[in-house]
Amino acid sequence: TVIHRRDYMPPPYRIETVDLHFDLDPHRTVVRNTMRIVRRDGVPADTPLELLGEGLQLEAVTLDGVAAEASDADGRLRVAAGRASFELTVTTHCDPAANSSLMGLYVSNGNFFTQCEAEGFRKITYFLDRPDVMATYTVTLAADKEAYPVLLSNGNLVESGPLPDGRHYAKWVDPFAKPSYLFALVAGKLVALEETIQIADGTPKLLQVWVEPQDLPKTRHAMDSLIASIRWDERRYGLPLDLDRFMIVAVGDFNMGAMENKGLNIFNTKYVLADQQTATDTDFANVEAVVGHEYFHNWTGNRVTCRDWFQLSLKEGLTVFRDQEFSADMAAGEGDAAQAASAVAVKRIEDVRMLRQTQFAEDAGPMAHPVRPESYAEINNFYTVTVYEKGAEVVRMYQTLFGRDGFRRGMDLYFQRHDGQAVTCDDFRQAMADANGADLAQFERWYSQAGTPRVAVETAYDAAAGRYRLTLRQHYAEDRRSDTPADPLLIPFAVGLLDAAGRDLPLRLNDEPESAAATTRVLALTGAEQTFEFVGLPIDGATPTPSLLRHFSAPVIVDYEYDDAALAFLLAHDSDAFNRWEAGQRLATRALLEMAQTLSAGGQARLSETVVDAFGKVLADDTLAPAFREQALTLPSETFLAEQMIEADPGAVHAARTQMRGRLAEAHAALWQRIYEAHRTDGPYRPTAVDAGRRALRNLALGYLAELPDAAAATLAETQYREADNMTDRFSALGALARIGGTAAQDALQDFYRRFEHEPLVIDKWFALQAMQPDGAARTIDTVRRLFTHPAFNLKNPNRARSLIFSFCAGNPAAFHAADASGYAFWAEQVLALDALNPQVAARLARVLERWRKYVPTLRDGMEAALQRVMAGARSRDVREVVGKALG
Ligand code: ARG
Ligand code: ZN
Repeated sequence: TVIHRRDYMPPPYRIETVDLHFDLDPHRTVVRNTMRIVRRDGVPADTPLELLGEGLQLEAVTLDGVAAEASDADGRLRVAAGRASFELTVTTHCDPAANSSLMGLYVSNGNFFTQCEAEGFRKITYFLDRPDVMATYTVTLAADKEAYPVLLSNGNLVESGPLPDGRHYAKWVDPFAKPSYLFALVAGKLVALEETIQIADGTPKLLQVWVEPQDLPKTRHAMDSLIASIRWDERRYGLPLDLDRFMIVAVGDFNMGAMENKGLNIFNTKYVLADQQTATDTDFANVEAVVGHEYFHNWTGNRVTCRDWFQLSLKEGLTVFRDQEFSADMAAGEGDAAQAASAVAVKRIEDVRMLRQTQFAEDAGPMAHPVRPESYAEINNFYTVTVYEKGAEVVRMYQTLFGRDGFRRGMDLYFQRHDGQAVTCDDFRQAMADANGADLAQFERWYSQAGTPRVAVETAYDAAAGRYRLTLRQHYAEDRRSDTPADPLLIPFAVGLLDAAGRDLPLRLNDEPESAAATTRVLALTGAEQTFEFVGLPIDGATPTPSLLRHFSAPVIVDYEYDDAALAFLLAHDSDAFNRWEAGQRLATRALLEMAQTLSAGGQARLSETVVDAFGKVLADDTLAPAFREQALTLPSETFLAEQMIEADPGAVHAARTQMRGRLAEAHAALWQRIYEAHRTDGPYRPTAVDAGRRALRNLALGYLAELPDAAAATLAETQYREADNMTDRFSALGALARIGGTAAQDALQDFYRRFEHEPLVIDKWFALQAMQPDGAARTIDTVRRLFTHPAFNLKNPNRARSLIFSFCAGNPAAFHAADASGYAFWAEQVLALDALNPQVAARLARVLERWRKYVPTLRDGMEAALQRVMAGARSRDVREVVGKALG
């Protein structure tokens, strides 16, 4: 059954308070749930109360203290209350140890955890499990004291003590009304890193990071990130921490990244644990970003929540935008103004790279949906890059239109109006409009139209008059796969013009005073086609070079006929660092696509020396920040490139990219060597943006050197592997060795495994690295099948499943899309195996083949057959929705 946004109805009953009592036992946990329930005004008295439940064993129901008739039909518990206000107690039990879905209450490594978003609370107790039912919760946990010494839930601890038979209890009260998806409990053998801080108004707050005992030394960075997040939200948005304590708990079995449960965030260990020996710079940055993200949800998600799940981007798009800004500010905080600007650009580049690779592809495939979806079969399938990352771009556009101050005014009004409420994306947009005296009616289309808009640009320069005309035309691709409207959007389009020396020209539109001139102008494109004219440019000057969509001011594709010389010029001179990078990527993309096309047609590809020269200039430019240089010198990914072909041919893309890497390595060997030598980081390891940037550039150099046929790179990599004092350098060296191959690679892989055997997150990297190797002497599919039987492999652990299976199926396109369909057979087996254990993870893997129609005909049949095999065998709603859409 499909649920539609237009069918939204408010619930007939409100649940005002919830008093939960848990008798925790891994195989039989008893839950007693006492609710104060009120019928909403105007609802007929004979309307039955229907509570949702899943996999629960019902023991008893009492209505105002008297045993009541109630039965579960198809996951709905019907109670004929017949009164306007009453107290209902429902007692059930469940089996957490048998719960492999990791939704609801489950056991991981002997401890209890919960995950309730989106619809997991109904696996714990019968409830109106929907976000517009907000109640205050009191939670009592009782369990064996020795096995479960720590008992945690949302809010504040109000009572705890011993019980008979070696048991004990703890009672928690959360003073803030919340939807059920924010409920959480944790019980087990855990220890915490603790710190008390004072927030701006002087109140003390207890902060805790709870982990298994052996992981305590890896919690410092998460704690520092939490403190930084609290400070940042106060400074930037005036939003304080509202509880007396704030807890983060790490768990090794978790479907997603982390969860913002009120006052009790539960995290995948991957986004909490970090130390120099086991975590890379990227891991450190991800911990900071995810800790920030979940903390920021406390206001954007928890204090103001979603009316229904179609509004998911209300909290996710906004909170991703907030964590992006937080990470950018953290990286920018380290250096001078120039370093700060470069750090902000690097963060933007990383985010846009990911948006274009994954969200643009999603938007062009069978799962395409607007930021605010219109329908779903399984809501867990809609925690997507469109809802999250495109949603964040939509929020960013408000800031681009109104500036930071205007955006802040909108946020203030949003909280003034909606604190404590469950609201919609429209409510957010209205607050932004009203706070800024703007009409944002047209902007609504960003929420209701699927697909990636394209903006075609035409330019005309009248040198004699000093006028420059820019015509922008917006449209969607003809083959857009969505029946949502395709009307013109309000697109903030940032532009600059460079003179012949590469300097920015002051820009003023023809109806503006001279004082309005600025070097970057944000044009508001509202029509299908619009012309903007800049005046007052130098008379008889050389034709300026346009810098389009600076800082990626809107999530669109720009079509403009740049020639190679213009791109090389922008790469060398644009004052907008994002567009400098963009120019290099365009240049490389064009060359790589030409090569891939030729190879795909069976021809011999020729390399573009323009790319080799332009990249050489960046390589030699020591004035550029290392982190930026690393981004600029990284070629577009194979996945991105394949998506740009009319018919994707992963093998040809891989061959083209490998050829280009080889040529860049050989043409600039001396420069790579120099870069490698010049970018050692001195002093103790610090995961700061500046140091991480140096390591990234140096390791990129090592990667290019490893493409060369001589033995020098192997020696460098071996030495670096052995002497590294941090995971970033050690793992990069291992990667370089693996690419070179031979016994040195085998030895290093073995050494790495032995060294980190007891570090699950590092062993994940070990599996992933091998799954992502290109086919060589051994075919990677064979390696993957062999690793599948490795004693450390465990399909039930999502991180481990992702590290081997997803890394191969999604992270190694050329090997996965082998012509003999061996990859597809493996994929189908794994989707079906996971479907029986964990439908959410299975559905994510199922999505790998959703773009099958995009591929060359020789691959399509194999993909379709594999999809059909999965469709015939899959039982979960999750997988069936994904595969059904792919085949449909
Ligand atoms: N709200 C969580 C986060 O973004 C994600 C939870 C996703 N859970 C799920 N079952 N789909 O921060
Ligand atoms: Zn989130």
